[in-house]
Amino acid sequence: MAQVLVLGSANADLVVSVPRRPAGGETVLGSDTVVLPGGKGANTAVAAARAGGRVALLGAVGDDGNGALLRRSLEGAGVDAALVAVSRRPTGAAYIAVTPDGENSIVVAPGANADVVAEAPWGRFAVLVCSLEVPVPVVEEAVRAASAAGVRVVLNLSPVVGVAPDVLAALDPLVVNEHEAAELAPSFEGLLELGPRAVVVTLGARGAAVVTRSGVLEAPAPEVDVVDTTGAGDAFAGALAVRLAEGRELVDAVRFAVRVAAFSVTRAGAQPSYPTLAELGGP
Ligand code: ADP
Ligand code: NA
Repeated sequence: MAQVLVLGSANADLVVSVPRRPAGGETVLGSDTVVLPGGKGANTAVAAARAGGRVALLGAVGDDGNGALLRRSLEGAGVDAALVAVSRRPTGAAYIAVTPDGENSIVVAPGANADVVAEAPWGRFAVLVCSLEVPVPVVEEAVRAASAAGVRVVLNLSPVVGVAPDVLAALDPLVVNEHEAAELAPSFEGLLELGPRAVVVTLGARGAAVVTRSGVLEAPAPEVDVVDTTGAGDAFAGALAVRLAEGRELVDAVRFAVRVAAFSVTRAGAQPSYPTLAELGGP
């Protein structure tokens, strides 16, 4: 049985290269469409499985080709997809226009992700890790149910949305990137006032910071050649959950997550870039 349950989105990323972003009412011709498996939930699950975890995804996809693409990617990485429901809506899609300067314009159609239900055999998992591209009430219900069953809960508050205080209080840890942290509180210590037992702030090329009542501890990232940072935060969350499920200390788990996420930025794409333990050069 899986140790890590990921609750979150599964999207098809439909990527097209364009010379420039279209203005209102304008049409711009682009490259062929490249379809890639994505969504924060699916990304996190794939990263966790590659990093050595036994992982299940709680999510929803449509009965369509994009849903099949996502299932193939999940199953190829060894993720248990039995809790991925089939919705009547189309699979979630992210329409991504990429300009030559590397900037993105993204439209997300949540589709089937709106139909995720907070139902799982909670007690079978050591850790639940959630992100917010699925409806907030579903995440709140899942956090409460998992906590009540003694499951450790990690929440990647991405994107930043309002979450009930009792849900924030159940988190161990809350995970945010630097921008999300700044939206939530004026200082790292201020993030603890939201109620979580601990906070992890990811700092891009600088690694991550672990914020607890005993202070702030930094876990620096190795220096790497950056190719594509897409999905680095999701890789981080997945790797973190795996180590926490193994019973490691938070700081140890964060050091591992920093290594996994740093590796992921050295290769193109999100899911295809996530390393196996062998590629990382050992545990
Ligand atoms: P997000 O992708 O959610 O915005 P970050 O940019 O903080 O989050 O990146 C998440 C993690 O990915 C970091 O904690 C770090 O481990 C890794 N990472 C991101 N960018 C780099 C980089 N340029 N060099 C090394 N590691 C990186
Ligand atoms: Na990458």
